[in-house]
Amino acid sequence: MIEGIRRIQELMERENYITDRAIATTVYLAMELGKPILIEGPAGVGKTEVAKVLADALETRLIRLQCYEGLDVHTALYEWNFPKQMLRMKVEEDGALAADEKERLIFSEAFLFKRPLLQAITEPDRSPVLLIDEIDRADEEFEAFLLEVLSDFQVTIPELGTIVASHRPYVALTSNRTRELSDALKRRCLYLWIEYPSFEKELRIIHAKVPGSSRELAAQVVAFMQVARHLKLTKVPGIAETLDWAVSLMALHQDHLDPAVVVETLGCIFKDREDILSYAGPRIEQIVSMITALPPEDLASSAPQLLTSVAPGTRTEP
Ligand SMILES: Nc1ncnc2c1ncn2[C@@H]1O[C@H](COP(=O)(O)OP(=O)(O)OP(=O)(O)O)[C@@H](O)[C@H]1O
Ligand SMILES: [Mg+2]
Repeated sequence: MIEGIRRIQELMERENYITDRAIATTVYLAMELGKPILIEGPAGVGKTEVAKVLADALETRLIRLQCYEGLDVHTALYEWNFPKQMLRMKVEEDGALAADEKERLIFSEAFLFKRPLLQAITEPDRSPVLLIDEIDRADEEFEAFLLEVLSDFQVTIPELGTIVASHRPYVALTSNRTRELSDALKRRCLYLWIEYPSFEKELRIIHAKVPGSSRELAAQVVAFMQVARHLKLTKVPGIAETLDWAVSLMALHQDHLDPAVVVETLGCIFKDREDILSYAGPRIEQIVSMITALPPEDLASSAPQLLTSVAPGTRTEP
């Protein structure tokens, strides 16, 4: 089993996803037990990426269902191709087919639009990864419907009958916790909470995703982000912002943090006007000076010290 977990970790890291033990263990168990994974955590910490990377690592298809308010069963499962059915009826008007044969014809698979859930169930070659992204945005009724699909991996289309999954999909659901999900859904899933990354994890992510960045710049960017997440912000930056910022600083040929450039590029990490107005200027320059005064190799161990120096206005939990 330990070997299996290590293998998952290795496969996902090969796809440039820095995978801690908790993530690898949950993915491994979900695959072994045939259960969906419910992934929760703040914005931009790598929830959606787990499913994408898993599909690449297993060399299988990723099928994505993006949830939103008002998402209905038809958009998620199947729809009849009404114009095509009409056209065929017209063509068959003078044909030899009897009425019930015509009906059977136009309600056959060729006239069906397969939406993500049906695609996942009917995937012919191997188990796909089914990503049900941001399930908290969908309505509770949709969640209830999903429960049925996730427990049996089969769907019934009245005109066609019951379709059972040929290859049971690996399922990952993500949620930003804009609403509490039902206990029934949680019971069917293995739960994975992804937190903002530690200093070491975020540094590894930069090295993996922005390979050209200097050691000094990468460590300073991470130190800044770790501090920034403890400021009183309307929108706390995630890993996506860290990567955007590191790429932008490289595009500007920076190999270390410079206070003026940090202020100019603050829009890469702070995505709210109030946040920029509150911090652009002396507050940011002070944080940058504290970071650049330390040798890059000491930044990881100095992170707690940096956090306390940023007071007042710090938050204990991001
Ligand atoms: N562990 C990691 N290793 C490498 N890259 C990562 C890791 N975690 C996150 N990322 C990168 O961070 C970015 C954001 O990840 P992702 O979109 O999966 O976040 P999310 O949690 O789904 O965010 P949201 O809640 O906004 O949907 C992506 O570019 C992803 O590649
Ligand atoms: Mg996401």
